[in-house]
Amino acid sequence: MSDQLPPVKTLLLSTTDLRKILDMNDVLTAVENAFRLKGLGRVQMPPKMYLFFDKFNGDIRTMPSYIEDIGVSAVKIVNVHADNPKKYKMRTVMATIVLIDPANGAPISIMDGSLITDIRTGAASGVASKYLARKDSRNLGLIGAGTQSRTQLLAILNTFARLDEVKVYDILPEKSKAFAEEANKAYSKRIKKVIASDDPKDAVQGADIIVTCTPSRKPILKDSWISKGQHINCIGADAPGKQELDPAILKRAKVVIDDWEQASHSGEINVPITKGTFSQKDVYGNIGDIVAGRKPGRISHDEITMFCSTGLAIQDAVTAKLAYDEAKKKGIGHEFEMILPY
Ligand SMILES: NC(=O)c1ccc[n+]([C@@H]2O[C@H](COP(=O)([O-])OP(=O)(O)OC[C@H]3O[C@@H](n4cnc5c(N)ncnc54)[C@H](O)[C@@H]3O)[C@@H](O)[C@H]2O)c1
Repeated sequence: MSDQLPPVKTLLLSTTDLRKILDMNDVLTAVENAFRLKGLGRVQMPPKMYLFFDKFNGDIRTMPSYIEDIGVSAVKIVNVHADNPKKYKMRTVMATIVLIDPANGAPISIMDGSLITDIRTGAASGVASKYLARKDSRNLGLIGAGTQSRTQLLAILNTFARLDEVKVYDILPEKSKAFAEEANKAYSKRIKKVIASDDPKDAVQGADIIVTCTPSRKPILKDSWISKGQHINCIGADAPGKQELDPAILKRAKVVIDDWEQASHSGEINVPITKGTFSQKDVYGNIGDIVAGRKPGRISHDEITMFCSTGLAIQDAVTAKLAYDEAKKKGIGHEFEMILPY
């Protein structure tokens, strides 16, 4: 019997394969749609599960999801080890995604989830900025000049088409300098100038959009630096105890989250919640509700808006599906028979 049945074909996709396939504009559209479906209650996505490697200042998470409307299911395994670049010359965040055929549970693809994490995390900020930042936003302030910051810049640039000034601050000045040099070269036609700043206050004051993208456990942004009309994407805080903003900022801002279970446990709001200075009633809403049209996003020029991004499994699933479909079309990747016929 087993001889007549086809084997399960699993497509292996490496970072190099994915670089040939994934386009930020496609991912922006896919992530926006994933947020919309979440806002409509049409996704299955339990919160991330964590294992903490305290001895190594790291953790690992599993992130499963299913979206019936799109016919996609995936599980991501992802780590965060902030000392990796210095200690091992390795990325801080690395991931693997298994894409599942919902019809029969077969693992149709195993792919690098690291690049997908970078692109979909950038896309989440792009989508949030579309709904929450001022339409005339032209200046961006970045805190952190690591891996995520690069796709944050690309997604926000693609969302607004052009930027006048980007300022970037990193605790390691050589990283901000390298970032500015690289971005000035890559986007010379779309950004007037990218400046390495040696002071976080200078990087964010006067920016229309701010992105915080560090593994910090102590607030970096001070309340007094934030002015009317600014939008802040908080990316770095994605585990308990992480925090990049003075909690006083949250009191002045319209706070939008990606998912209550995840945000309260590990997002920018997790520390103030633990200390009892912030609660669910202080949250304006979910990005999914705003994208689905159930709640307005920005309603005035002057309001301060904040997006607490913890990263959703559905962002990974829709991006992995894009990659898989495109790889099949173009014949990219390496297909193998991992599971023998029944
Ligand atoms: N929200 C999400 O969906 C999501 C997704 C991926 C990663 N993350 C988080 O984003 C953060 C950054 O990830 P990455 O992959 O870019 O890491 P990375 O190590 O590549 O970059 C982090 C950068 O932050 C800098 N930095 C550290 N402390 C700082 C401080 N106090 N002030 C200024 N700069 C500081 C480091 O020097 C480094 O350049 C991590 O906390 C990670 O867990 C969140």
